[in-house]
Amino acid sequence: MYDYMLGGKDNYAVDRQAIDQLTAHIPAAVPLARANRAFLQRAVRHLADAGVRQFLDLGSGLPTQGNVHEIAREACPDAKVVYVDHDPVVAAHARALLEEEGRVAFVEADLLRPADVLAEVDGFLDLDEPVAVLLVSILHFVQEDPGPMVKVLREAVAPGSHLVLTHAVSGLTGDDREEAAKDVYRGSSTGGATGRTLTEITAFFGDFEPVEPGLVPVGQWRPDTPVLVGDGSLPDYLYAGAARKP
Ligand SMILES: C[S@@+](CC[C@H](N)C(=O)[O-])C[C@H]1O[C@@H](n2cnc3c(N)ncnc32)[C@H](O)[C@@H]1O
Repeated sequence: MYDYMLGGKDNYAVDRQAIDQLTAHIPAAVPLARANRAFLQRAVRHLADAGVRQFLDLGSGLPTQGNVHEIAREACPDAKVVYVDHDPVVAAHARALLEEEGRVAFVEADLLRPADVLAEVDGFLDLDEPVAVLLVSILHFVQEDPGPMVKVLREAVAPGSHLVLTHAVSGLTGDDREEAAKDVYRGSSTGGATGRTLTEITAFFGDFEPVEPGLVPVGQWRPDTPVLVGDGSLPDYLYAGAARKP
């Protein structure tokens, strides 16, 4: 579904139908998905420029243009990246793409078992050195409380590490469109989507120190081009932020 929203070719009729249903309720779904991807790229570029050399991309999705390792390497040619996803189709595509690449790995695993994921990547990544943990457009697909899982990640990484995330916000449409959108996701292979409040989303960062500008609508996080606040182009349904472990 996400691949279709990004304009990719690796999707099925059922994905396209689900997105057509979704956009009937949330017309901005496709621009928001693209804004999400653009945020991921800006955040990786910012952190690589700031000296982060290791990236753990959880729920990485199908490889597309501007993958994390490509962006990170522009600033830091020796950056190491591990992609993690539980979808076998993603795994097949990622392995095919990454076969020739050094310093990049793909792990087929469930991020709801973070200790197992960390054990698997340990050695390829040096967990005694800072890591950027990316949880971008993934936690709203976790139906149970992701708090304990994110806490395991926060505690495992070294000082100077970062947590980067985007998350759908609940209760913002002010009508029944949010429920209609949830119905579309419930009927899809994602198994469902859950918006959360800004307070709940902020709590995922624990005691990490916010990177400016904090948790903001996705298009407003260190934009490459000026953003006209309130111009109505993107509704504030998806928030983005990054924070650093002290
Ligand atoms: C919307 S895509 C996000 C891709 C990428 N993070 C981005 O923002 O561009 C969500 C991805 O998370 C993966 N995913 C969902 N639940 C997962 C889980 N429990 N463990 C690992 N991957 C998961 C899905 O297979 C999908 O590829």
